[in-house]
Amino acid sequence: MPILVRPADMERITTTALAQKYIEEQISDLRAQIGDKKVLLALSGGVDSSVTAAMLIRAVGQQLVCVHVNHGLLRKNEPEQVIEVFRKQMKANLIYVDATDRFLDKLAGVTDPETKRKIIGGEFIEVFAEEARKLNDITFLAQGTIWPDILESEAGIKAHHNAGGLPEDLKFELVEPVRILFKDEVRVVGRALGLPASMVDRQPFPGPGLGVRCPGAITRDRLHALREADAIVREEIGRLPETPWQYFCVVPDMKSTGIKDGKRYMGWAVIIRAVNTVDAVTATVPELPFSLLCTIRDRIVASVPGVNRVLWDLSEKPVATIEYE
Ligand code: XMP
Repeated sequence: MPILVRPADMERITTTALAQKYIEEQISDLRAQIGDKKVLLALSGGVDSSVTAAMLIRAVGQQLVCVHVNHGLLRKNEPEQVIEVFRKQMKANLIYVDATDRFLDKLAGVTDPETKRKIIGGEFIEVFAEEARKLNDITFLAQGTIWPDILESEAGIKAHHNAGGLPEDLKFELVEPVRILFKDEVRVVGRALGLPASMVDRQPFPGPGLGVRCPGAITRDRLHALREADAIVREEIGRLPETPWQYFCVVPDMKSTGIKDGKRYMGWAVIIRAVNTVDAVTATVPELPFSLLCTIRDRIVASVPGVNRVLWDLSEKPVATIEYE
């Protein structure tokens, strides 16, 4: 199959009708390319891989094998949602691998941000490769590559790692059904394929997941506090009529004095981070209603173990980055 390039005059997919037309064309191309062979996909639950999966399920059904690796750094209920939507609702062939212990054991005591990222990326490839080797009849590897990935890697801005990383013995032919789409188009196509809004409208979430929001050496108890606090922050800020571009929280490896039941209580601080941006290269901090911040504070200190303080990050990018590591 020729490498697909977005035609210069291609109409931007903004409506369900245009999305349906794109889906029909893709399904016919995918069936012609794949025939009766099998396709493997690493399904993170992010927008691009979810839409890629939904498209392939329409095109080749059970010939698609999805592998969802839980690296232990996902947000609250994320693996459950992937299983619910893809295995239960879309009847996909889905392998779920809970590799939490493998990742957290390797990350124990590691404080350097780049080393943490490398461990997470490297371990992910290893777990995925192990699953791929168990399946000996796979011909194709599907990827949720999108058009900005291609443009950025051509411009030398970002190495496009989707294709890379798998060991030499695992050589598959690539299938990239959303390759010529921009992100907003991927969302329109995802909706037309019947994916829930909670999946299609998801915020950007880094590959190393909560790992970059648990600065310093990750411990299970601080990671648990981060995950619980993050669910509260996302739920409460998500109620705003207009939500910021990205909003989450961070729990640094720092304890401060507090009081609980009349006694001294050393606890972590949850830092609320909300930003607006167009391209994530620069970012501003939107005003959040004070009552909303207080609701978040009250819910976090009442229910998240180990936390005695809630802070709001006012830093813009630059000089701060959006993530903490
Ligand atoms: P920074 O922290 O560089 O983040 O201001 C800019 C945007 O990129 C996201 N981000 C990542 N996304 N893998 C990703 O897929 C990563 O390793 C990664 N690191 C940061 C971040 O969430 C923000 O939207």
